[in-house]
Amino acid sequence: MAKVIAVTNQKGGVGKTTTCCSVCGELARLGYKVLAVDLDPQSNLSFSLGVEMDDDFTIYDVMKGNCEITDAIFHGEVCDVVPSNILLSGLELEMTGVGREYVLREQLSGVSKKYDYIILDTPPALSVLTINAYTASDELVIPMLCEILSLQGIAQLKQTIFAVKRYYNKSLCVRGILLNKYNPRYTLTQDVEDLAEDIAEQLGTTIFNTKISASVAIAEAPAHGESIITYSPKSKSAQEFKAFVKELIEPHKSGSQKKAGSDK
Ligand SMILES: Nc1ncnc2c1ncn2[C@@H]1O[C@H](COP(=O)(O)OP(=O)(O)OP(=O)(O)O)[C@@H](O)[C@H]1O
Ligand SMILES: [Mg+2]
Repeated sequence: MAKVIAVTNQKGGVGKTTTCCSVCGELARLGYKVLAVDLDPQSNLSFSLGVEMDDDFTIYDVMKGNCEITDAIFHGEVCDVVPSNILLSGLELEMTGVGREYVLREQLSGVSKKYDYIILDTPPALSVLTINAYTASDELVIPMLCEILSLQGIAQLKQTIFAVKRYYNKSLCVRGILLNKYNPRYTLTQDVEDLAEDIAEQLGTTIFNTKISASVAIAEAPAHGESIITYSPKSKSAQEFKAFVKELIEPHKSGSQKKAGSDK
């Protein structure tokens, strides 16, 4: 069964898609079978992973019940991808039926045996898509920028995570906070890191040891339809994401998945 990991933070531009893309790239390089699911109407992950869209089915059709998830899988160069579509932005109003929180989980369970990891990119919102992602996930990774505003976002996020854990997915585990565009030389970074540690504690998790520095190569990679892992394998960013993935998958290798906070 695949381990399902959602990368989430309802604040925009914190590095969710970048993290998904890089994690998929590194997991694939390591030989894992990976499915990336783009749950953001902006389709940034689909673009970053080099998906070429015709009139194919997308995650919108999957969520609407127009097709099975297997019909919407694009076999990309990096990994398999279920692409997104702008129509997804209207889904909140279209999905009103009982059990709407479980649609993605049900669909993913049908392909779970085929993959080692399923990585979910979420939109910068706390919507029905986010709830579906949390309900379908084993673990959450929360990227954040080393700015004060990012912390405000996390407090709101906490309420949503706790509600999903309570009502839809009791075993959901917040794996950790990933500090992005990190620069240890800024005083502000240290202040924010201290605050982030407080928040992490409230979420019953910790900050990942690996931090991601700001880099031009990260911003360039998506235009080439590949992850930083193959676009610039020797770069500092690629090394950082490799270290991050190592940290991320380490507990899965030992067989017994550690719960948030229990291993730190
Ligand atoms: N470490 C980094 N160094 C340099 N640029 C970065 C870094 N991380 C992300 N970026 C750039 O910042 C922008 C936002 O990143 P990204 O799209 O991953 O964020 P996001 O959280 O997915 O945004 P959204 O909420 O809109 O989906 C992108 O242009 C990306 O290339
Ligand atoms: Mg994004």
